[in-house]
Amino acid sequence: MLSVDDLEAGYGDVQVLWGISLRVEEREIVALLGSNGAGKTTTLRTISGLLKPMSGRITFDGADITGRPAHEIVRLGISMVPEGRRLFPKMTVYENLRMGAYLAEGDVKDRLEMVYSLFPILKERRDQLAGTLSGGEQQMLAIARGLMSSPKLLMLDEQSLGLAPKIVQEVLSAVERIREEGVAVLLVEQNVQQALSVADRGYVIETGRIVLEGSGEELLQNDHVRTAYLGL
Ligand SMILES: Nc1ncnc2c1ncn2[C@@H]1O[C@H](COP(=O)(O)OP(=O)(O)O)[C@@H](O)[C@H]1O
Ligand SMILES: [Mg+2]
Repeated sequence: MLSVDDLEAGYGDVQVLWGISLRVEEREIVALLGSNGAGKTTTLRTISGLLKPMSGRITFDGADITGRPAHEIVRLGISMVPEGRRLFPKMTVYENLRMGAYLAEGDVKDRLEMVYSLFPILKERRDQLAGTLSGGEQQMLAIARGLMSSPKLLMLDEQSLGLAPKIVQEVLSAVERIREEGVAVLLVEQNVQQALSVADRGYVIETGRIVLEGSGEELLQNDHVRTAYLGL
C-alpha cells in the first residue's frame, strides 16, 4: 500500500535521510525504531508531505505521491499524529475531534462513532476541555483526532513518550484495535520491546539509513537490537 524507495531528505543543505526504503501493506502494523536523531520523524514528515524529498519515490495505493502537498496526502488517506500532542487545550474533546475531520470528505458522524467505540472514555468526556484530561487520555485524543480524516494509513510519532508503563500498554493496545478497523499503522516508538510485540514487521534506522528489517519476532531476537535497543 505504502512504498518508500530510496528516499533522501533533509533540512536546507543538511541531508538527514540517505536512501530510506520501506513498505507498509494494508492492515499491517510496522514499527520504525532508532535512537534520537536517527531520522524517524524526518521520514514521517517526508511521507506526510510536510518536507519535500531531495530524491526518491513515495507511492501510496499505486499513485506516486512524491512531493505532493500535505493536505492532498491527508485526503489520499495518510494521517500523521505528530510527537507532542498538539491538542487545542481550551477546546472540548468533541471540538478537537472535529478539527481532525476538517480535510475529510464523507460523514463526520460515522467517524465520530468509530473513534468513540475505539476510545469510550472520549465519548464520556466529549464536552470536557482537552487540557483537563489526564496525560493518557490526551494521548488517546491525539490519536483519535488523527483517525477523523478516515486514513488507510495512520503514522504515529512517539505517542507513548513520557507516559507511565500502564498507559504505554494502553496506547499499544489501541494500535491493535485500530488495525482491526482496517487501518494500517506505521509506528515510531522508543519502547522497543513493546512496539515489536505488537508490530508485524519493523525497521531499524541509524543515521538516516535502514540498517535492519524483519518481523517483530526476528527483531526481538536480533543481537544488535538486543544490545543497542533493549539493553540486554
Ligand atoms: N527542523 C530541523 N532543522 C534542521 N535539522 C533538523 C530539523 N529537525 C531535525 N533535524 C535533524 O535531523 C536529524 C534527524 O532528526 P529526526 O528525524 O527528528 O530524528 P528522530 O525522530 O529519529 O529522533 C537530527 O540530526 C536532527 O538534529
Ligand atoms: Mg522524532
